[in-house]
Amino acid sequence: MINNESRSVVILGASGNLALTKLLPSLYTLFTSGALPQNFAISGYARTAMSSEEYRKIVEENLRNSIEETLLVESFLQEYLKSIHYFSGSYDSVEDFSKLHVGLAEIHTKFPSKPTVLYYLSIPPSVFEPVIHSLRECGAIEKGDPDVSVIVEKPFGYDTESAKALGKTLDQTFDESQIFRIDHYLGKEAIMNLMVMRFANLIFEPVWNRNYIDSITVAWEEDKNIGGRGGYFDKAGIIRDVIQNHLLQILALVAMEKPRSYDSDAIMAEKNKAVKSIEQITLDDCILGQYISGVCGGKPVIGYTDEESVPDGSKRETFARIKCAINNHRWSGVPFYLQAGKALTKSSTEIIFQFKEVPGDIFSSPHHPNKLIIEVQPDAGIKFCITNKVPGKGMVLKDVALDFSYDDGFNKAMPGAYERLLLDAIQGDKTLFINYEELIHSWEIFTPILEKIDAGNAEVFPYHAGTNGPEETSRI
Ligand code: BG6
Repeated sequence: MINNESRSVVILGASGNLALTKLLPSLYTLFTSGALPQNFAISGYARTAMSSEEYRKIVEENLRNSIEETLLVESFLQEYLKSIHYFSGSYDSVEDFSKLHVGLAEIHTKFPSKPTVLYYLSIPPSVFEPVIHSLRECGAIEKGDPDVSVIVEKPFGYDTESAKALGKTLDQTFDESQIFRIDHYLGKEAIMNLMVMRFANLIFEPVWNRNYIDSITVAWEEDKNIGGRGGYFDKAGIIRDVIQNHLLQILALVAMEKPRSYDSDAIMAEKNKAVKSIEQITLDDCILGQYISGVCGGKPVIGYTDEESVPDGSKRETFARIKCAINNHRWSGVPFYLQAGKALTKSSTEIIFQFKEVPGDIFSSPHHPNKLIIEVQPDAGIKFCITNKVPGKGMVLKDVALDFSYDDGFNKAMPGAYERLLLDAIQGDKTLFINYEELIHSWEIFTPILEKIDAGNAEVFPYHAGTNGPEETSRI
């Protein structure tokens, strides 16, 4: 508990999906667990005109639909709702933002101490610039003020240049120390455990390199089609949607060297180095796909270009497998595959470490090299595939798995990624956020192929919805 302190969270884009289904429920869970101070306020800002009372009703309805019943304690819920305020205005009006600023000041007078204020920009990229401008011009932000910070959500641009332009916009108003770039994958338990697994256990480090590991695959799949998200998705594609951010962050944590300590500067420095060592990707390193009709999650699914929200004849990739190479002593020659797709057989995220063959095999019974699988979702766990003798006569070998699941091992609910990251940002801890340098490196890796894909100059193979992606996937 961080009591005696006062904290204020301002959600810009408060009527949007992210705010209502992720941010406000996560803040509620933090509130009920006692992680937030008594002097705490949430203020929402969006275009729709409504009173705080009306907004609270919407929030309440969403909470009742999304929070587990056992957590919905009526007295907590009512107290939480009381801490919520709502302001409406347009995103490009300094005058409306001034009203928000005055409103916030009034809310803050009820606190015994000056609160820290965290702005969450849960807004579409099209209004990003006017919002930052209005925040600055209305006097809400002083550059470098340690008591005011901002969380920004992806997309952080759509290529290197636009990411730099966005960086400049932010830089006019905020110091880098005030900016929290969120990637919710960094708040997932199995991802946060990567560093613990590597650096708090002795047995992994000696084999965590090109001498023992044959390949590493980060495989992300979803059994959902694009549906109504085509407007956004067709401009982005799967590489911008999940590979350049979520999957690359996983790769960085897998590949980085041990930081000198578990503090945000040391971790960021090592992650930056790892990302910087990734060689630029060409189209020869990619297999791209786009789903056509099929059956997904038990339901018939129309093809991507038949979706109403998708332009006819679009060549946008809904699947990609990308082979990355890391040019450093530890990883030289080890392919890292980043693979992601929409409308596949299931929804899951796994990291697969394929080990090399044992040299000079003395057994005549067939068996496979070791494999370590980190299961991120839906059920987090760690599986280590080893070769074992089958009990009984003769020398027959079999691949078996040592299987650890978070459910069995800890028997407690996993906190949501947003819950964890929001609390960190409220407390000013940047360990699990992305810094500017790393962001720009990550765009530099993908921008050359994205330009070609955007221009329609890349081959995109069809695959049926509900399958594992295009047949051509195994070519790289
Ligand atoms: C988002 C993408 O960043 O991550 C979505 O825009 C994707 O397309 C989502 O579905 C996946 O997140 P999670 O936590 O459900 O795996």
